[in-house]
Amino acid sequence: MKKRSWAEPWKIKMVEPLRMTSRQTRERALAEAGYNTFLLRSEDVYIDLLTDSGTSAMSDRQWAALMLGDEAYAGSRNYYDLEQAMRDVYGYSEFIPTHQGRGAEYLLSQLMIEPGQFVPGNMYFTTTRYHQELAGGRFVDVIVDEAHDPSSTFPFKGNVCLNKLQGLIDEHGAGKIAYLSLETNVNMAGGQPCSMKNIKATCDLCHQHGIPVFLDATRCVENAWFIKDREPGWADRAIAEIVREICACTDGCTMSGKKDSLVNIGGFLAVNETKLAEEARNLLVCHEGLHTYGGMAGRDMAAMAIGIRESIEEDHIRSRVGQVRYLGQRLQHAGVPIVQPIGGHGIYLDAAAFLDHLPREEFPAQALAAALYLDSGLRTMERGAVSAGRDAEGNNIFPRLELVRLTIPRRVYTQAHMDVTAESVMEVWDRRREVVGLRMTHEPVRLRFFQAMFSPTVGGTVLPAESSPESAVEC
Ligand code: F0G
Repeated sequence: MKKRSWAEPWKIKMVEPLRMTSRQTRERALAEAGYNTFLLRSEDVYIDLLTDSGTSAMSDRQWAALMLGDEAYAGSRNYYDLEQAMRDVYGYSEFIPTHQGRGAEYLLSQLMIEPGQFVPGNMYFTTTRYHQELAGGRFVDVIVDEAHDPSSTFPFKGNVCLNKLQGLIDEHGAGKIAYLSLETNVNMAGGQPCSMKNIKATCDLCHQHGIPVFLDATRCVENAWFIKDREPGWADRAIAEIVREICACTDGCTMSGKKDSLVNIGGFLAVNETKLAEEARNLLVCHEGLHTYGGMAGRDMAAMAIGIRESIEEDHIRSRVGQVRYLGQRLQHAGVPIVQPIGGHGIYLDAAAFLDHLPREEFPAQALAAALYLDSGLRTMERGAVSAGRDAEGNNIFPRLELVRLTIPRRVYTQAHMDVTAESVMEVWDRRREVVGLRMTHEPVRLRFFQAMFSPTVGGTVLPAESSPESAVEC
């Protein structure tokens, strides 16, 4: 069969010009940002792959809905539309809106965790674990071992290891376990999915012991795509059905609408138990806002109600994951070490392998993110030791995964942007031995990766300018 080209299932109706920068400008901007890509000004960035969170392009239907925002303090029409969209797509009965995912994580952790209890989960996420610890809980990683090996091609690296989970229950007793935190398309593992078989087995095991399961549904639709694509028996099922089936196994979810739901802000907590929902609404009014807006404007809720429904359209999700795969395959062909298999929301460079001349104490992933920015104005994110923070004794945690994430916003960039991105990564790959490590010069106490500052261990840059300035990329 002849190969047919693929194109995005949308056309562009409005453009946002991008600013091209010179190497000199980027050098200055990076130094001012303390070599932390979170601290760069967006106007100094060319292609922004820092995150897929809140960076999606809304559809014309969503933009139109903004004008129908009902900004009543209480009982906004948009709240009821959003509640209905959540029920139709995710299937939980009780809906508690929050300004974004971490608002929901705060509520759930405060209400479900007693100090000293364990919270097992399939790998940590930064804000999720932070809120679990704030509530006095102790996170325990129960993800399968394959998830910690960037080169393992296991198709469901997000799976929970049932033996690890059973071991925790046997050791401490079910009463010491607050709930299981089940993340779909595990972010820190590289956007890796859980299989339906594993989700069901995990929920069965927990429920046999009376342990509730709360889903982090942030990228549940992307996970559903992988189940359809990879898991025997699911190819003919609609994405909508798969999402419903995942949720039906669990007792509730926290959701950052800024990812799957195609909006710039918004989130929710959803549960089935009325009493828990009532307590959550009560806490909500103290922290987020009234229970019929939870920190969102009416127009935000209107856009999210539509975004939730658009997120499960087959053409959308196929092209969303397909674009990530396109970028990943270009890098794989060039021999660049990336986390395998290619995940759902981004490409994760294996910085420890990429910069194997740098010790972990010099934060190779942070240095690689800085070098990529210098090369082309491409913004990426460290997901390694800086993100992992310190343990209870105050020692740096060096997780096995030392990654740089190239996260693809939904419906924002074209295949040409993916080509420019791939070429920049390949350029730094060719020059990898020239990349210099970093030392931390400023370390915030909480979620340090957002605001930490660094400087190069030697010389004044992480990647020297090329000897002939004409050959440097002007972009
Ligand atoms: N859970 C997961 C799996 C996430 O990826 C995020 C956010 C959250 C919860 C928190 O949601 O940002 O709306 O409060 N992830 C962003 C990222 C920050 O860049 O991966 P939030």
